[in-house]
Parts: sequence; C-alpha cells; structure tokens
Amino acid sequence: MVIYDFAIGQTNPETFPVEEFKQAAIRAIESEHEQFNLYHGNKGHEGLRRAMAERESKREGIPVDPEQIAIMNGSMQAVTLVGQALRQGKDDIVITEEFTYTGTIGAYKGIGLEMVGIPLDGFGMRMDALSEKLKELSDAGRLPRFIYTLTTYQNPTGTCMPKERKQELISIAAEYDLPLVEDNCYGDVHFEGEKVPSMYAMDDSPNQIYIGSLSKILAPGVRLGYLLAKEPMFSRIVNQRFDAGSNYFAAAVVAEFYKNGIWDHCEVANPVLKKKRDLVIEGLQANLSDICTWSNPVGGLFLWLRMPEDTDMDKLVKLANDKGFSFMPGLAFHVDFANKPYIRLAFGHVPDDLIKEGIPVLAEAIKQSRTSNEPRNFDTLF
Ligand SMILES: Cc1ncc(COP(=O)(O)O)c(C=O)c1O
Repeated sequence: MVIYDFAIGQTNPETFPVEEFKQAAIRAIESEHEQFNLYHGNKGHEGLRRAMAERESKREGIPVDPEQIAIMNGSMQAVTLVGQALRQGKDDIVITEEFTYTGTIGAYKGIGLEMVGIPLDGFGMRMDALSEKLKELSDAGRLPRFIYTLTTYQNPTGTCMPKERKQELISIAAEYDLPLVEDNCYGDVHFEGEKVPSMYAMDDSPNQIYIGSLSKILAPGVRLGYLLAKEPMFSRIVNQRFDAGSNYFAAAVVAEFYKNGIWDHCEVANPVLKKKRDLVIEGLQANLSDICTWSNPVGGLFLWLRMPEDTDMDKLVKLANDKGFSFMPGLAFHVDFANKPYIRLAFGHVPDDLIKEGIPVLAEAIKQSRTSNEPRNFDTLF
C-alpha cells in the first residue's frame, strides 16, 4: 500500500478553491448555458482565451492577442499536436532535454519521432552540447524537425534556464531555422526570485511555439491548457485537431473563476507548495547530505535527487515500495530509458506530516540499496 506518494505531479488538494469554484460554475451555467448547445471550433472559449492572453501578457510584459491562443484539452494535447504537425515522415528527429516529461516521451515516440536528448546542467539544456549535436545531425543531413524544451522548473529536474541561455538557444535554433517549443506547463507555480521571460517574449519569429496549462495552477482534472503561436505556425498546428474543440463547459467555469485575476489563487497555493518543498529539503539535508545531491527548485512540483553510482535502482524501487514509499525512477524520464541513479520526488500533493515522516523512510531505502557506505564523490546534480 502506498503511504508516501511522491510519484505523480498533482496539485495540492488542501488548497483547491472549492467554494469559489462552485460559485463560478453556477455563474457560468446561468450566463452561458445556451452556448453549451453549440460546437465552438478549434480555438475554444473566447473568455478563457482572453484570460490566458492577459495571464501571459502580464507575466511577460508584452501584448498577447487572444486570437493567437487555442484552448486545448490539457497542455498534453498541444504537445502532441505540435509533434503531429511538425513531423513530416519516417526517421524524423525531435531534440529534447536528455531527461524530459514522460508524457512527451510517450507521445513523440508514439507518433514515430526519434528523440535525441541533450544533457542538462544546473541551468537546463546545455548549449555547448546542443550546438555540437546539431552540427553532427546537420553534417549527416538529418536536422531535427524541432526543439522541445522545458525551460522553467524543468520536469523532472526542477532546473530553470536563465535569460542569457534562452537567448543563446533562440540564436542556435534560428541558425538552423528550427521551430522552438517551450512547454511552460508549470508557469506561475513560482516560489521565489525573478521570473525569467519566455522565449516568445524575447523573439518575434513564427518559429516560437509556447504551451501553457491550467493543470498545475488550478487542477489537472479541468483538462485545460493552451497553445500560443503566430501564423502560419498557429494554423499549421491547430488544423491537426479533429476533436471538435476542447471542453467548453470547463473553460466557461474556469474563465468565470479567473474573472477577478489569475494570481489570487496562486498567491494562496504557492506558499503552501513552497513549504512542502522546504520540508523535503530539510528531510534530505538531515538524512542524505553525505551521499546525495538534489535540486533546489524555485517553482514547480518536483525535486530531482542524485544518488551514488553504487545504488541498485531495481532494489531501491522494491525496498521503497515495500515501505509504502512511491517515487518515479530517473529511467522513466530518460529519452533512451537509461537506468541512471536519479529519482524524482513530486511533493505538491503530499501532506506535510507525511513528507516529514516519509523522507527518512526513503533515505533508509537508499542506504540499503547501495553496495557500500562510502560518502558521495560528486558535488553537482549532473
Ligand atoms: C512538462 C509537462 N508538460 C505537459 C504536461 C501535461 O499536463 P496537462 O495536459 O495536464 O496540462 C505535464 C504534466 O505533468 C508536464 O509535466
């Protein structure tokens, strides 16, 4: 039985705004019920598009046209549609971080894209490694169709790409005329420090594709996300959808919920998440500082833990599961499923007392899964 559930990146049930959401649903039904009898096409609910344009525009400090936004059934639909739109044939390649979101791996491999992973450091995808790989692929006549990147609170590693590196990434992509997909699924799940601008706000090119979500600032069950791009890229992607549009009812309720501002709820939810992150780090510091290193995410829902090479990953999964502790092993996020000694801890929905109790349980399982008691011989995360 799972007692300490650090496996899935879900939002925190303690801060779901039940009463406000109920009232928003009532208002949306009263004012928009006639619209529920209609099909609304590919772009989706206008009020929600306007709200998301305002969200982006206020965060990024640039005007965002709601006509550049299409509401999706979660950001996952946008991730998939981008792959379907940009793939042209057999053997096509997409570049991602070496460790990336499991859903993206499933979708892109599922539609026949070959994934080429670029190593990360503490600031996201490494630009030296990207340049080298693109040169190699270009020389072989196999340039990728696009680059997909998680620049902010990267899933699974929690890293953030600074502005200077984003600028470098924009230049490298432009050199090869490659579309650049920035999946900002965790945008606004922010704990501290400055927010780094998104690449679409730094570059006017129609090769910029941006993906947002409501799953992480509100709830994954609403199944709402969005795609933002300029023409002709916008139509090229959105025309790939044949689902008659996203859930208009959910969009109407969420648009109503956000009428008085997008960040009111984030201001309630984020400090609670930040405390959970701090509790995880306190537990790791007290129990594992001599043998592990970990990320210190300034937002998002995950912490990435590096263990010594002599950790038997299969044994660790079994031992931890036997003790009621679940997590995602590094292997699940690796583009080639390499079994490296990493785990991802999703802390967003774990009650505080179970975090305090659970991290020592994990620490014990890690220690028992090693073949030595040697302290770690590394200081960095990668
Ligand atoms: C990086 C990333 N992209 C996309 C998604 C899909 O989220 P949703 O479809 O719920 O918006 C997730 C979910 O965990 C994610 O981590």
